[in-house]
Amino acid sequence: MGMKYSLRINGRMMAVEAEADATLLEVLREELDLTGTKYGCGEGQCGACTVLVDGRAQRSCVTRVVAVAGKAITTIEGLATGERLHPVQQAFLDEEAMQCAYCTSGMILSAVSLLNAKPKPSDAEIVEGMQGNICRCGTYPRIMAAIRRASAAMQGVRS
Ligand code: FES
Ligand code: FES
Repeated sequence: MGMKYSLRINGRMMAVEAEADATLLEVLREELDLTGTKYGCGEGQCGACTVLVDGRAQRSCVTRVVAVAGKAITTIEGLATGERLHPVQQAFLDEEAMQCAYCTSGMILSAVSLLNAKPKPSDAEIVEGMQGNICRCGTYPRIMAAIRRASAAMQGVRS
């Protein structure tokens, strides 16, 4: 029988019932219909399922839902502010940093986490920060460009 959990997702408290071993990814996609978070490998290796937990990137496929009860969870659906895209989302669009886009929500949330921790990363720091995210379409150069663009845009917002 399932347990009841209160999850804080995209700024809203949500009550869910899930088995004790349910993953955050299963709950997001199957219980809450937040399907922007993707299932890739299911083993913590590809980054497609990345969400933010208290502002830091976390693989939702290997995160038990019990471990994140009460923490602030952000999915791709909660990143924009009203109609205004997050600067990282905007930069991915501006640089056309996707082909099939299966990796894109995970890439964007990992990039947000990286820029939260390091607002002006070097190229080497971008590569290191994003190394857990795999793009089967090989759009890495444009993803790099998008993260550089987002970093600059976010500096502009702050100054
Ligand atoms: S689906 Fe979670 S890391 Fe691949
Ligand atoms: S755009 Fe297809 S996997 Fe990255």
